[in-house]
Amino acid sequence: MSPLGFLGAGNMAEAIVRAVLARGVVPAAQCFASDPSEGRRALFASLGVTVSAHNRDTAGRVRTLILSCKPQQMKDVLGEISPVISSETLLVSIAAGVSTEVIARHLGKPVRVVRVMPNTPLMMGEGMAAIAAGEGATVEDVQTVLRIFEVAGRVVEVREALMDAVTAVSGSGPAYFFLLTEQLARAAVELGLDAETADVLARQTALGSAVMLAKSLDSPEELRRKVTSPGGTTQAAVEHLTEQRWQETFRHAVAAAERRGRELRGG
Ligand SMILES: NC(=O)c1ccc[n+]([C@@H]2O[C@H](COP(=O)([O-])OP(=O)(O)OC[C@H]3O[C@@H](n4cnc5c(N)ncnc54)[C@H](OP(=O)(O)O)[C@@H]3O)[C@@H](O)[C@H]2O)c1
Repeated sequence: MSPLGFLGAGNMAEAIVRAVLARGVVPAAQCFASDPSEGRRALFASLGVTVSAHNRDTAGRVRTLILSCKPQQMKDVLGEISPVISSETLLVSIAAGVSTEVIARHLGKPVRVVRVMPNTPLMMGEGMAAIAAGEGATVEDVQTVLRIFEVAGRVVEVREALMDAVTAVSGSGPAYFFLLTEQLARAAVELGLDAETADVLARQTALGSAVMLAKSLDSPEELRRKVTSPGGTTQAAVEHLTEQRWQETFRHAVAAAERRGRELRGG
């Protein structure tokens, strides 16, 4: 793969660069990153990445440039790199809620942009990323982005209009599972278990369930049915959740996340 650059050497960029280096997608000598933080630059340098405090240094040296700063920093970053960006550069934005159209507008020229919504499990090599091609992006550009993100989990392609939905499902999704795990551990404590044991029970149950979801051919609904004997303990819990309209409440919560995504970008 051609040289790869990162504008913003934060947590997400670190997870991506570690994954691409570990899987040999691109050698460290072909990786570049810029960040205002000396500490972050030192960390990337320790991975063999060439670092700079100036985004233009990075942007001018690569053909594939990952925009991995925070959304609120994007406008300044794009203004800074605009003079060194041409149609030769593939821009890959992971910034939540920033459209490919806004990126092209801030750069003030036609560009090739692919937008990606990753999630935090990417840091463990089990990410879920959705990608959407902007107007100027080619089929090859999408393939390039697939190659980068596939090494850190799974990737699907969606229309850009669905990015707020993706954000609400897989972007925010880990928090829903963490919340459930948190409440399972709290319930365990309320039922008399000590906190440490409660934490182990909840975490390992979450992990075991995730592995079953990943490996079994059964649907999540079928897997749930198999643990739910008629008249048994699981059924008592599921009946209580159903009476409290939990399933509906949960779907409304995901819809609220999608709505908030649209509000944040003024949509
Ligand atoms: N974390 C997630 O779950 C998640 C999920 C999907 C998408 N994303 C997106 O991924 C992007 C990065 O998130 P993150 O969690 O990795 O954040 P992060 O750790 O804060 O990384 C952002 C990095 O960019 C640096 N930075 C600040 N101003 C800059 C500038 N002008 N030029 C270059 N770099 C600059 C920051 O430095 P300072 O800290 O010194 O400001 C920081 O090191 C965000 O746009 C976010 O929307 C994150």
